Amino acid sequence: MTDTIETVVFPVAGLGTRFLPATKSVPKEMLPVVDKPLIQYAVEEAVAAGAQRLVFVTGRTKNAIADFFDTAYELETELAAKNKDDLLAIAQSVVPEGVDCLYVRQSQPLGLGHAILCAKPLVSGAQFGVILPDDLIHHPQDPVMCQLARHHHATQASVVSVNEVAPAHVNRYGVVDAPEFEGRFGAMRGIVEKPEPSQAPSNLAVVGRYLLSSQILDILEHTPPDHRGEIQITDAIATLLNTERVDAYRFEGAQFDCGNKLGFLQATVALGRAHPELGQDFSNWLDAN
Ligand code: G1P
Repeated sequence: MTDTIETVVFPVAGLGTRFLPATKSVPKEMLPVVDKPLIQYAVEEAVAAGAQRLVFVTGRTKNAIADFFDTAYELETELAAKNKDDLLAIAQSVVPEGVDCLYVRQSQPLGLGHAILCAKPLVSGAQFGVILPDDLIHHPQDPVMCQLARHHHATQASVVSVNEVAPAHVNRYGVVDAPEFEGRFGAMRGIVEKPEPSQAPSNLAVVGRYLLSSQILDILEHTPPDHRGEIQITDAIATLLNTERVDAYRFEGAQFDCGNKLGFLQATVALGRAHPELGQDFSNWLDAN
């Protein structure tokens, strides 16, 4: 494996039913946390880590995501005509220069591994990143994908971000068997998808960031669906472990599960408090109420 992360894949085909009715006509990734849609946090993290090719694995109801990352001629013409340069700069900076956005559809809900496999024709490089936008991780000084990229540069290993969770909650996540940690990382011996708490190898759960050897794409082609009928990235990583090193990495940063309402609200409060313009007023109001 060489050192650049050229491509980051964003699986965004899910229906977001937990946020109905909001998601009846708006993709959940377009719901704003303070002033940016969830997907933009994920994209900013990928770009911070050097990605130049962003691959969105979308579905029939997700056209708003492609529209968001496209040029908005009417809006930009209008803002330019009114000399609203600040707003024009905001609209134009959604995708930085030199970054390509590519789209592929996952036409059947066959799991996260299948979604990543759909991106295969668009992935370039010896390794690539995957960001699940539902997992918002706030660490502006050192975004998590940058932490994973640094670890990869130092070790050449594939790397998956992990977090400790309550033992009773391991059945919601991929869970790693990585018995020996040196500082933030430990070499994985195994990984299982959503184990029963009594069967789990640890309480270290995978959070939505992966930096994977491209070999995983060939493995995914031969990974059978699990008992839920889904092709799991977790199962493909377990196979990759037979031939390549994969590390679990305890990241630094505040994680919010924006796939559910409570996590989304918590993210809104935390990022609202940290917001450069609104933070002070918002914190004052929260503290007084
Ligand atoms: C997916 C993965 C799981 C991982 C989780 C992180 O599960 O399959 O291994 O721990 O994302 O958010 P999902 O949340 O799609 O059920």
